[in-house]
Amino acid sequence: PEAITIQELANRMAEKGADLVKALFKMGTPVTINDVIDQDTAELLVEEFGHRIQRVSESDIEIGIEGDQDAPETLKPRAPVVTIMGHVDHGKTSLLDALRGTDVVRGEAGGITQHIGAYQVKTKGGDIITFLDTPGHEAFTEMRARGANVTDIVILVVAADDGLMPQTIEAINHTKAAGVPMIVAINKVDKPEANPQRIRERLLEHEIVVEDLGGDVQDVQVSALKKTGLDELIEKILLQAELLELTANPDRAAEGNVIEAKLDKGRGPVATVLVRRGTLKVGDNFVVGAESGKVRAMVNDKGENVKVAGPSAPVEVLGLSGVPMAGDQLSVVENEARAREVAAYRSELATKKRTTAAPTSVEHMFSALN
Ligand code: GTP
Ligand code: MG
Repeated sequence: PEAITIQELANRMAEKGADLVKALFKMGTPVTINDVIDQDTAELLVEEFGHRIQRVSESDIEIGIEGDQDAPETLKPRAPVVTIMGHVDHGKTSLLDALRGTDVVRGEAGGITQHIGAYQVKTKGGDIITFLDTPGHEAFTEMRARGANVTDIVILVVAADDGLMPQTIEAINHTKAAGVPMIVAINKVDKPEANPQRIRERLLEHEIVVEDLGGDVQDVQVSALKKTGLDELIEKILLQAELLELTANPDRAAEGNVIEAKLDKGRGPVATVLVRRGTLKVGDNFVVGAESGKVRAMVNDKGENVKVAGPSAPVEVLGLSGVPMAGDQLSVVENEARAREVAAYRSELATKKRTTAAPTSVEHMFSALN
């Protein structure tokens, strides 16, 4: 029987890990979020939270969707994945552009960046950070609901001349629900009417207590326009990342998540995939959501063709049978027949999900459905 950690189960149910821990505590089982629980307990929890349980076939189990864990000795440090969120016009894109400007590699090349919805920055100290271009909040929720918690850290951008706005609060709530640490970037401090202190105080109302006010949420004043505070922001990201001790096994069949996907006129279906673990290689057979494929080519965020992509690397993948959905998991499988088989199975499962309401029992692995 498959075991699962509380966090993983929470991700699949799109619930807070802390809530699951609380529920188990109430049932008389004290656990922590990284504890592995057995199938019976998991089933109980899933029902407790009002989700249905659906049995998943043999084929899905073998490709080991997130259920299996890599042995500790196989784990190597990986780059943090950072998502920038905030209210409209508060400067998310400007900040991303400014941060991209700090990339030493890109600075040298001076090239034009191809937009693939995600990119990596190499800092002066040689550290690598993966930034996800601000997905709409809906996409973020959608991905989370589908168990794809791809973000390690959220940067909340708040314009110092505007304050907390509806989407700022939405972003705060999403971040809390995802259980991801937040760094507050108070932007537009170059403006005469900027009032950073007021933002810090207003954040208190949402239980975000920044360091200045005695809390543990890091904050930094930036101006995306004047390019100030960027080094400090990067420093804080790296500090936060260090605390998270992010690792992955790069030497295994790759798994990743779709950040965005589209049908490209010339190139066919194209998906931007963030590799979570393993190394994705040209020629690999894979299944992604209800689609399958064989990696024909990969393009990195600098527009270069690459043959391999390791953990935390975002790449455009060509060679898909169709356009997958944001959040879909990509898993490399041993051969083409297998890829097609699993994709067909998933496609069938997706249809069933839509048409049947009757829950079945958990056998090997479970997927929690809303
Ligand atoms: P959406 O993608 O529409 O949600 O907006 P955004 O959050 O990406 O904001 P964007 O980067 O497009 O910036 C909005 C406006 O604010 C633009 O006119 C920017 O030039 C301006 N802006 C962004 N950062 C700064 C800053 O640090 N200082 C000043 N003065 N203006 C800024
Ligand atoms: Mg923008």
